[in-house]
Amino acid sequence: MNRRLAALISGRGSNLQAIIDAVTTRRLDATVAVVLSNRSAAPGLQRAREAGIETIYLSPREYPDRDAYDRAIAGALQAREVGLVCLAGFMRLIGRPLLDAFPNRILNVHPSLLPAFPGLEAQRQALEHGVRVSGATVHLVNAELDAGPIILQAAVLVLPDDSVETLSARILEEEHRIYPEAIRLVLEGGWVVEGRRFVRRAR
Ligand code: GAR
Repeated sequence: MNRRLAALISGRGSNLQAIIDAVTTRRLDATVAVVLSNRSAAPGLQRAREAGIETIYLSPREYPDRDAYDRAIAGALQAREVGLVCLAGFMRLIGRPLLDAFPNRILNVHPSLLPAFPGLEAQRQALEHGVRVSGATVHLVNAELDAGPIILQAAVLVLPDDSVETLSARILEEEHRIYPEAIRLVLEGGWVVEGRRFVRRAR
C-alpha cells in the first residue's frame, strides 16, 4: 500500500505529533507527506513545519459549498500522491468527494469507545452520562459522523473525581498509542471490510 500519509488537522495536533514521532522512531514505516488544515492558526501546522513537512491551509470560506471544499482537499492530496488520509482532530464532516477519492483510506481518532458518544466533547458526554469506562477509538471514515469500521480501541477507566481535563488527558495518551498502531495495521494490508467490521485476515 502507498505509505505516503496526509494528516488533516484543525487544532493542537498532538495526534499528528504522535504520528510524526512514530515515523521518526521507525515504529511506523511511512512518510507524512503533507499536513492540511482548515484553520490557519492551528498550532499543529507549526509542529509540521518544525518536522520539515509541507503544510497546506485551505479556507472553507473560499469555496461555495462543502463538496467544493472537499474536492479541493482531495485534489491537493492526490497531487501529492497521498495513499492514506489521517484525520487528527479535523473538526469537519467528510463529504462524498473526499470519501470517493480515498475509499477506505481515511482514518479518524475519536476520544470515546464508539459507538458511544460520537460528535463533539465526547469526554464531557462520557462524564455527564456517568459511564465507568470510556476510551479511544481509531476507525475508518464513512459518510456518517464517527461511525465507520473500528480498527482499534483502548479502554480508560473513569475515576470518581475526574474532570473533563483529567479524563481527556488519560484518553489522549491512549489515542497517541493506538493511532500510529492502527495506521501500521492498515498499511500492512491483509484486511477487508465486512459489513461494518474491519476484519484482519489470518496471515
Ligand atoms: C483528539 O482528542 C481527538 O480524538 C479529537 O480531537 C482531539 C484533537 O487533539 N477528535 C474528535 O473529537 C473527532 N470527532 P489533537 O489536535 O491534539 O490531536
